[in-house]
Amino acid sequence: MLTAYDYHTAQVIDHAGIDSILVGDSLGMVMLGFETTLPVTMDMMLHHCKAVARGAQFALLIGDMPFMSYQVSAEEALHNAGQFLQHAGMDAVKLEGGRERARTIRALVAAGIPVMGHLGLTPQSVHQLGGFRTQGRSAQAAERLVEDALLLQDSGCFSVVLESVPHRLANLISEQLEIPTIGIGAGVGCDGQVLVTHDLLGLFDQFKPSFVKAYANLHQDMLSAFQNYQREVDLRQFPDEEHSFSMSDQAWDALQERLAK
Ligand code: KIV
Repeated sequence: MLTAYDYHTAQVIDHAGIDSILVGDSLGMVMLGFETTLPVTMDMMLHHCKAVARGAQFALLIGDMPFMSYQVSAEEALHNAGQFLQHAGMDAVKLEGGRERARTIRALVAAGIPVMGHLGLTPQSVHQLGGFRTQGRSAQAAERLVEDALLLQDSGCFSVVLESVPHRLANLISEQLEIPTIGIGAGVGCDGQVLVTHDLLGLFDQFKPSFVKAYANLHQDMLSAFQNYQREVDLRQFPDEEHSFSMSDQAWDALQERLAK
Protein backbone atom coordinates (compact mmCIF):
# COMPACT_ATOMS: atom_id res chain seq x y z
CA MET A 1 0.00 0.00 0.00
CA LEU A 2 1.12 3.57 -0.70
CA THR A 3 -0.47 6.92 -0.04
CA ALA A 4 -1.69 9.26 -2.78
CA TYR A 5 -3.51 12.56 -2.68
CA ASP A 6 -3.83 13.47 -6.36
CA TYR A 7 -4.91 12.10 -9.74
CA HIS A 8 -1.50 11.69 -11.34
CA THR A 9 0.25 9.97 -8.43
CA ALA A 10 -2.69 7.59 -8.07
CA GLN A 11 -2.39 6.74 -11.75
CA VAL A 12 1.32 5.93 -11.48
CA ILE A 13 0.87 3.85 -8.30
CA ASP A 14 -1.94 1.98 -10.02
CA HIS A 15 0.19 1.33 -13.10
CA ALA A 16 2.97 0.03 -10.85
CA GLY A 17 0.55 -2.65 -9.65
CA ILE A 18 0.48 -1.63 -5.97
CA ASP A 19 -2.49 -3.38 -4.33
CA SER A 20 -3.94 -0.52 -2.39
CA ILE A 21 -3.88 3.28 -2.20
CA LEU A 22 -4.47 5.10 1.07
CA VAL A 23 -5.60 8.70 0.84
CA GLY A 24 -4.03 9.34 4.22
CA ASP A 25 -4.64 12.33 6.43
CA SER A 26 -0.84 12.66 6.18
CA LEU A 27 -2.09 14.87 3.36
CA GLY A 28 -2.19 17.65 5.95
CA MET A 29 1.56 17.42 6.55
CA VAL A 30 3.05 16.49 3.17
CA MET A 31 0.67 18.37 0.87
CA LEU A 32 -0.79 21.21 2.92
CA GLY A 33 2.08 22.16 5.21
CA PHE A 34 0.45 21.59 8.61
CA GLU A 35 2.65 20.41 11.48
CA THR A 36 0.29 17.59 12.41
CA THR A 37 -2.69 15.83 10.85
CA LEU A 38 -5.13 17.47 13.28
CA PRO A 39 -6.26 20.40 11.09
CA VAL A 40 -7.35 18.09 8.24
CA THR A 41 -11.11 18.26 7.59
CA MET A 42 -13.66 16.06 5.85
CA ASP A 43 -13.86 18.57 2.98
CA MET A 44 -10.10 18.37 2.40
CA MET A 45 -10.15 14.57 2.51
CA LEU A 46 -13.10 14.23 0.13
CA HIS A 47 -11.55 16.68 -2.35
CA HIS A 48 -8.33 14.64 -2.56
CA CYS A 49 -10.10 11.26 -2.48
CA LYS A 50 -12.11 12.26 -5.56
CA ALA A 51 -8.93 13.13 -7.45
CA VAL A 52 -7.31 9.81 -6.48
CA ALA A 53 -10.41 7.86 -7.48
CA ARG A 54 -10.27 9.46 -10.94
CA GLY A 55 -6.66 8.30 -11.33
CA ALA A 56 -6.80 4.73 -10.01
CA GLN A 57 -8.53 1.88 -11.77
CA PHE A 58 -7.34 -1.29 -10.04
CA ALA A 59 -6.06 -0.53 -6.53
CA LEU A 60 -8.22 -0.86 -3.44
CA LEU A 61 -8.90 2.73 -2.38
CA ILE A 62 -8.99 3.60 1.31
CA GLY A 63 -10.00 7.01 2.65
CA ASP A 64 -8.56 8.08 5.99
CA MET A 65 -11.13 9.50 8.38
CA PRO A 66 -9.80 12.83 9.70
CA PHE A 67 -9.61 13.97 13.31
CA MET A 68 -13.03 14.54 14.88
CA SER A 69 -14.93 12.94 11.99
CA TYR A 70 -15.50 9.69 13.92
CA GLN A 71 -14.67 10.35 17.59
CA VAL A 72 -17.80 12.27 18.60
CA SER A 73 -20.42 9.58 18.01
CA ALA A 74 -20.99 6.42 15.99
CA GLU A 75 -23.80 8.23 14.15
CA GLU A 76 -21.52 11.05 13.02
CA ALA A 77 -18.86 8.51 12.06
CA LEU A 78 -21.41 6.63 9.97
CA HIS A 79 -22.47 9.78 8.17
CA ASN A 80 -18.87 10.80 7.45
CA ALA A 81 -17.64 7.34 6.48
CA GLY A 82 -20.58 7.03 4.11
CA GLN A 83 -19.42 10.13 2.25
CA PHE A 84 -16.07 8.52 1.40
CA LEU A 85 -17.86 5.67 -0.36
CA GLN A 86 -20.88 7.50 -1.72
CA HIS A 87 -19.31 10.74 -2.99
CA ALA A 88 -15.53 10.27 -3.15
CA GLY A 89 -15.02 6.93 -4.91
CA MET A 90 -13.38 5.12 -1.97
CA ASP A 91 -13.81 1.39 -1.33
CA ALA A 92 -13.13 1.52 2.41
CA VAL A 93 -12.21 3.85 5.26
CA LYS A 94 -9.44 3.80 7.86
CA LEU A 95 -9.67 5.14 11.38
CA GLU A 96 -7.27 5.29 14.31
CA GLY A 97 -7.60 3.76 17.75
CA GLY A 98 -8.24 0.55 19.66
CA ARG A 99 -10.92 -0.60 22.10
CA GLU A 100 -12.49 2.86 22.30
CA ARG A 101 -13.45 2.57 18.61
CA ALA A 102 -15.08 -0.88 18.78
CA ARG A 103 -18.68 0.40 18.86
CA THR A 104 -18.10 2.80 15.97
CA ILE A 105 -16.38 0.17 13.85
CA ARG A 106 -19.27 -2.24 14.42
CA ALA A 107 -21.74 0.44 13.29
CA LEU A 108 -19.79 1.16 10.10
CA VAL A 109 -19.32 -2.49 9.25
CA ALA A 110 -23.02 -3.18 9.92
CA ALA A 111 -23.81 -0.46 7.38
CA GLY A 112 -21.64 -2.20 4.77
CA ILE A 113 -18.58 0.05 5.06
CA PRO A 114 -15.27 -1.85 5.10
CA VAL A 115 -13.02 -0.51 7.88
CA MET A 116 -9.24 -0.66 8.24
CA GLY A 117 -7.97 -0.12 11.80
CA HIS A 118 -4.80 1.73 12.81
CA LEU A 119 -2.85 0.97 16.02
CA GLY A 120 0.47 1.90 17.57
CA LEU A 121 1.58 5.42 16.75
CA THR A 122 -1.74 7.03 15.88
CA PRO A 123 -0.82 10.55 14.69
CA GLN A 124 -4.22 12.06 15.54
CA SER A 125 -3.37 11.39 19.23
CA VAL A 126 0.10 12.93 18.95
CA HIS A 127 -0.49 15.24 21.92
CA GLN A 128 -1.77 12.43 24.10
CA LEU A 129 1.17 10.23 23.10
CA GLY A 130 3.67 13.02 23.85
CA GLY A 131 5.02 13.20 20.29
CA PHE A 132 5.59 10.94 17.30
CA ARG A 133 7.05 8.06 19.35
CA THR A 134 7.32 4.30 18.99
CA GLN A 135 4.50 2.56 20.87
CA GLY A 136 4.22 -0.77 22.69
CA ARG A 137 7.75 -0.93 24.05
CA SER A 138 6.83 -2.05 27.58
CA ALA A 139 5.22 -5.44 28.26
CA GLN A 140 2.08 -3.70 29.54
CA ALA A 141 1.73 -1.40 26.53
CA ALA A 142 2.47 -4.29 24.17
CA GLU A 143 -0.19 -6.45 25.80
CA ARG A 144 -2.72 -3.65 25.39
CA LEU A 145 -1.88 -3.43 21.67
CA VAL A 146 -2.33 -7.18 21.22
CA GLU A 147 -5.74 -6.96 22.94
CA ASP A 148 -6.72 -3.94 20.83
CA ALA A 149 -5.73 -5.69 17.61
CA LEU A 150 -7.88 -8.71 18.48
CA LEU A 151 -10.75 -6.39 19.38
CA LEU A 152 -10.51 -4.54 16.07
CA GLN A 153 -10.66 -7.89 14.30
CA ASP A 154 -13.68 -8.95 16.37
CA SER A 155 -15.35 -5.62 15.62
CA GLY A 156 -15.14 -6.36 11.89
CA CYS A 157 -12.02 -4.59 10.58
CA PHE A 158 -10.77 -6.19 7.37
CA SER A 159 -7.16 -5.14 8.07
CA VAL A 160 -5.09 -3.20 10.61
CA VAL A 161 -2.23 -0.75 10.12
CA LEU A 162 0.51 -1.13 12.75
CA GLU A 163 2.55 2.05 12.93
CA SER A 164 5.88 2.46 14.71
CA VAL A 165 5.84 -0.57 17.00
CA PRO A 166 8.70 -2.99 17.76
CA HIS A 167 9.05 -5.57 14.98
CA ARG A 168 8.74 -8.50 17.40
CA LEU A 169 5.42 -7.21 18.63
CA ALA A 170 4.13 -6.55 15.10
CA ASN A 171 5.17 -10.08 14.18
CA LEU A 172 3.29 -11.52 17.13
CA ILE A 173 0.15 -9.51 16.34
CA SER A 174 0.35 -10.54 12.68
CA GLU A 175 0.52 -14.19 13.72
CA GLN A 176 -2.41 -13.86 16.12
CA LEU A 177 -4.73 -12.08 13.68
CA GLU A 178 -6.53 -13.69 10.77
CA ILE A 179 -6.93 -10.35 9.01
CA PRO A 180 -3.85 -8.83 7.33
CA THR A 181 -1.63 -6.37 9.17
CA ILE A 182 -0.06 -3.54 7.19
CA GLY A 183 3.11 -2.22 8.77
CA ILE A 184 4.80 1.15 8.75
CA GLY A 185 7.83 1.18 11.00
CA ALA A 186 6.74 -2.22 12.27
CA GLY A 187 9.25 -4.59 10.67
CA VAL A 188 9.09 -7.23 8.01
CA GLY A 189 6.75 -9.61 9.87
CA CYS A 190 3.58 -7.73 8.89
CA ASP A 191 1.46 -9.10 6.06
CA GLY A 192 1.90 -5.95 3.99
CA GLN A 193 3.67 -2.60 4.15
CA VAL A 194 2.67 1.02 3.67
CA LEU A 195 4.77 4.15 3.22
CA VAL A 196 3.87 7.77 2.71
CA THR A 197 4.65 8.26 -0.98
CA HIS A 198 6.32 11.63 -0.40
CA ASP A 199 8.78 9.89 1.96
CA LEU A 200 9.43 7.04 -0.47
CA LEU A 201 10.12 9.52 -3.26
CA GLY A 202 12.33 11.76 -1.11
CA LEU A 203 9.94 14.65 -1.78
CA PHE A 204 9.39 15.73 1.80
CA ASP A 205 12.71 16.81 3.22
CA GLN A 206 11.58 18.49 6.47
CA PHE A 207 11.16 15.39 8.59
CA LYS A 208 12.08 11.80 7.82
CA PRO A 209 11.12 9.06 10.30
CA SER A 210 13.98 6.57 10.77
CA PHE A 211 11.87 3.70 9.39
CA VAL A 212 11.44 5.43 6.02
CA LYS A 213 13.47 4.25 3.05
CA ALA A 214 13.67 6.81 0.25
CA TYR A 215 13.72 5.10 -3.14
CA ALA A 216 14.36 8.39 -4.97
CA ASN A 217 15.45 11.94 -4.23
CA LEU A 218 12.78 13.90 -6.04
CA HIS A 219 13.24 16.94 -3.81
CA GLN A 220 16.77 17.33 -5.20
CA ASP A 221 15.60 16.52 -8.74
CA MET A 222 12.88 19.19 -8.52
CA LEU A 223 15.30 21.73 -7.09
CA SER A 224 17.78 21.11 -9.93
CA ALA A 225 15.04 21.29 -12.56
CA PHE A 226 13.70 24.62 -11.20
CA GLN A 227 17.23 26.08 -10.98
CA ASN A 228 18.11 24.94 -14.53
CA TYR A 229 14.86 26.45 -15.83
CA GLN A 230 15.58 29.77 -14.13
CA ARG A 231 19.16 29.86 -15.45
CA GLU A 232 18.09 29.07 -19.04
CA VAL A 233 15.35 31.72 -18.93
CA ASP A 234 17.79 34.31 -17.58
CA LEU A 235 20.31 33.43 -20.35
CA ARG A 236 17.52 33.38 -22.99
CA GLN A 237 18.41 29.77 -23.81
CA PHE A 238 14.82 28.75 -23.19
CA PRO A 239 12.58 28.67 -25.16
CA ASP A 240 14.86 27.60 -28.01
CA GLU A 241 13.72 26.93 -31.59
CA GLU A 242 12.54 23.42 -30.78
CA HIS A 243 10.13 24.80 -28.19
CA SER A 244 8.85 27.77 -30.24
CA PHE A 245 6.34 28.05 -33.09
CA SER A 246 7.33 29.13 -36.60
CA MET A 247 5.50 31.30 -39.18
CA SER A 248 5.98 31.08 -42.97
CA ASP A 249 8.02 33.81 -44.73
CA GLN A 250 4.98 34.49 -46.91
CA ALA A 251 2.74 35.20 -43.90
CA TRP A 252 5.51 37.24 -42.27
CA ASP A 253 5.98 39.41 -45.38
CA ALA A 254 2.22 39.92 -45.68
CA LEU A 255 2.12 41.05 -42.08
CA GLN A 256 4.91 43.58 -42.71
CA GLU A 257 3.00 44.98 -45.68
CA ARG A 258 -0.18 45.35 -43.63
CA LEU A 259 1.63 47.08 -40.80
CA ALA A 260 3.36 49.46 -43.22
CA LYS A 261 0.01 50.79 -44.55
O1 KIV B 1 -2.16 9.20 6.99
C1 KIV B 1 -1.40 8.30 6.59
O2 KIV B 1 -0.70 8.42 5.58
C2 KIV B 1 -1.36 7.07 7.37
C3 KIV B 1 -0.29 6.08 7.04
C4 KIV B 1 0.99 6.55 7.57
C5 KIV B 1 -0.64 4.72 7.52
O3 KIV B 1 -2.15 6.90 8.25
